[in-house]
Amino acid sequence: MSEKPVKSILFVCLGNICRSPLAEGVFRAVLAERGLEDAYTIDSAGTGGWHAGSAPDPRSIDIAALHGIDISAQQARKVVASDFDSFDLILGMDRSNVDDLNALAPQQGSGRVALFLGHATGRAQDVPDPYYGGEDGFVAVYRMIREASEALAERLAARASVPLSGHASSTM
Ligand code: 4NP
Repeated sequence: MSEKPVKSILFVCLGNICRSPLAEGVFRAVLAERGLEDAYTIDSAGTGGWHAGSAPDPRSIDIAALHGIDISAQQARKVVASDFDSFDLILGMDRSNVDDLNALAPQQGSGRVALFLGHATGRAQDVPDPYYGGEDGFVAVYRMIREASEALAERLAARASVPLSGHASSTM
């Protein structure tokens, strides 16, 4: 059975001000490095709506800026039912985000919900919530998101190069 190609990805955390805006910005940057920025629709959202309309947490803006990525114009929003149809892949930052997403998902939604790090790297690990911690938590979260974003881009590229018959195209 061949899987539908992934063309749109929604990154999701609890508040959409710390982790998922960073994931959106970092993954966009990783795509841009590969000349693929126009090939995918990327967005982020929160399972909670408390911060809707707000810019990302200043600590996320700062760690992104340190790596040349500007996420300051993003605005938090809550996950909506139509996201489950609009996005091919919906990646939760931690297991409780994934549980909340599965509870919110309409029966007929076509988007696939998965844990970000598990899907990208094969290691089922949470991106921990850094909101109540210090700056070092944001440094660790940035590293995890960067590594997972590169792994996800590799994975998407590998999938895109597999013909619909399901046979690998490699000549090695
Ligand atoms: P995020 O972090 O889910 O990575 O955006 C949080 C932001 C806000 C809250 C919790 C986590 N909050 O409780 O307001």
